[in-house]
Amino acid sequence: MKAVDFQSLREAVEYLKANKQERGGHVYEPMPFAEFNGLRVSSNAGQHRKAWELIRTDILATHDSIGGDEGPMDNLIVLDVGANMGFYTFSAALEGARVLAYEPQPVYSAVARAIIAEKDSMSRKVWWQDKPFDDGLSGLDASAAFLLSTFNWMADGGRRMDEAMQELTSICHIAPVMYFEQGWNKGKNCLRTKAGQDQFDACVEVGRDAGYKDFLLLGDIRVWGYSRPLIRCSR
Ligand SMILES: C[S@@+](CC[C@H](N)C(=O)[O-])C[C@H]1O[C@@H](n2cnc3c(N)ncnc32)[C@H](O)[C@@H]1O
Repeated sequence: MKAVDFQSLREAVEYLKANKQERGGHVYEPMPFAEFNGLRVSSNAGQHRKAWELIRTDILATHDSIGGDEGPMDNLIVLDVGANMGFYTFSAALEGARVLAYEPQPVYSAVARAIIAEKDSMSRKVWWQDKPFDDGLSGLDASAAFLLSTFNWMADGGRRMDEAMQELTSICHIAPVMYFEQGWNKGKNCLRTKAGQDQFDACVEVGRDAGYKDFLLLGDIRVWGYSRPLIRCSR
């Protein structure tokens, strides 16, 4: 895909206003910066904020001593796979976390890079990779991974399941905790649950195959008119 570059965050937002990235809106996610306030979110802004609040609360409750001068997550290292424009990446970075983010869609990545270039501290906090996650990453020791509405895309709706499972196994080696949510059974790029299997059990099966051992339901997120479980997987 062609690389895209913006000279400023203002130029990026003007581009999004003129070139909707989603069928139902300008952007997929509600971005945590005032510059994006006039843009329409195609998914469900309130549910994204709810998901972040569930993840944030869980991180702060389960990670000791991560707070520091730059916020309550100052000593947290996050791997965000399928970061989109960075709603979760920047939400964590604004709390002080350092985030390694992977996003192959060139416009999303260019917007994120414009944010990183202009916003105080973001260039120290966020390492943005304009590419798909691959299992070649080694030596990184992250505190947590975010895999939110992305695994089904990595698996290309099931057509690339073996490669995606290999990548997920590598995420499990990198991060002892993974926050996991995705769509099942709806749309051509979703994965399918087995007959009689509920979404939570389907997520657990995928997480277990990757090497995670404990699973906790944090809450349900309603996107596109139906609920999805948001799960914490632990090694
Ligand atoms: C439905 S969006 C979810 C975005 C965000 N994680 C969230 O929950 O709001 C899925 C994102 O994953 C990205 N993606 C697809 N395949 C990927 C891959 N192999 N590695 C990393 N990101 C990928 C897409 O470009 C898209 O931005």
